[in-house]
Amino acid sequence: MPTYLPLPPPSRLELPATALPAPPPAAAVRCMLAVRNALVRLTELLSPAELTLFEHATGVCKTALLGAIARFDIADFLATRGPATAEVIARELGLNAGVLHRALRELANRGIFSMSSDGTFANNRLSLPLRSGQLSRVREWLLYFSSGSNVAAWSELSETLRTGQSAFRKVHGASVWDWFEAHPDERAIFADCMMGLTAADAPAIAQLYPFGEVQRLCDVGGGRGLLLSELVLRHPRLRGVLLDSPGVLVSAQKLLEQRGVADRIELSPGSFFESVPSGCDAYLMKNILHDWDDATCVRLLQNVRRAASVGARMILCEALAERCTRDLLATRADLQMAVVCDDGRERDVAEFKGLLEQAGFRYRRVFRFPTINVIEGEAI
Ligand SMILES: C[S@@+](CC[C@H](N)C(=O)[O-])C[C@H]1O[C@@H](n2cnc3c(N)ncnc32)[C@H](O)[C@@H]1O
Repeated sequence: MPTYLPLPPPSRLELPATALPAPPPAAAVRCMLAVRNALVRLTELLSPAELTLFEHATGVCKTALLGAIARFDIADFLATRGPATAEVIARELGLNAGVLHRALRELANRGIFSMSSDGTFANNRLSLPLRSGQLSRVREWLLYFSSGSNVAAWSELSETLRTGQSAFRKVHGASVWDWFEAHPDERAIFADCMMGLTAADAPAIAQLYPFGEVQRLCDVGGGRGLLLSELVLRHPRLRGVLLDSPGVLVSAQKLLEQRGVADRIELSPGSFFESVPSGCDAYLMKNILHDWDDATCVRLLQNVRRAASVGARMILCEALAERCTRDLLATRADLQMAVVCDDGRERDVAEFKGLLEQAGFRYRRVFRFPTINVIEGEAI
């Protein structure tokens, strides 16, 4: 296996023991995304096509640059020490002042950090989310996307295009999950990234679905348990079971204690391909099925079905991507799944319905939000 520079640990995060803020109205989110996409298209229409394509082709520079800025916590430095030149930052952090100035200048010219005419850099609206301790986990996302293992997988996209097979497996000789088992630094950063994504989606999921009708909910592959803790906080009678790999659950306990729900959520370390806890009236999987090919999804759902009684609910939280979707969030995530997971993909409602039916569930209904959807099945 190739070796890469170890990733720094996730930054400390204080989670509230109260429910997260309500999501903006779906129509407002839809409108914001539509206006944003239209403005990006307009900018591109106003420039020569070659310039736009050249900008896209150099995307790897942005990924690497932002990853390095996150690794050295430059936004934290500027937040605590105030505006500074690259020489001052480099002296304190042990970096090369000349290259740091050139890196920060490039970012400032693209709107991330501000640069004064004397070469002093300061945080601005776009650099502030790069600081440690943000619930969005943007710092951790930059570390993950720029990590050696992820970038090396993307460099073999042509292989995925040719064969349909995971580039990650070709480059690293292992599934991304086995890779994380062998690389706890990357696993910790990835678990934090998912937590950031889930922090954005959890309030919408909580509002979309009637969790008040559920008594005991198992989150299958629930990561650190942020979603489950949010649902339990909002529904005082709800109890939870959190299933994920033992390495991920080690850090779940602290999160559940911070949120004051550790006594209402049982940890169930293990593989969801081996067994799923029985005795729950609902099972939830958020962003799990998109990691796997159809046959593996059916095997996983059948495993849940074996644990569930007739009438139990299967609640899937996923992006929805019809064949010709224009949803940019879904299409980008879909490609990440193709490159990194074994035939992972985003699906449409008909595909989820088919998977549910093959595994012994009846499809019941779908609840939609611009960034996440809830698809409900019932064990028959
Ligand atoms: C894309 S993440 C989703 C995490 C969480 N549901 C969320 O949305 O924040 C996939 C999760 O599946 C877990 N996972 C992968 N393979 C697993 C297995 N065989 N058994 C249990 N969990 C597994 C990973 O550890 C990871 O937490």
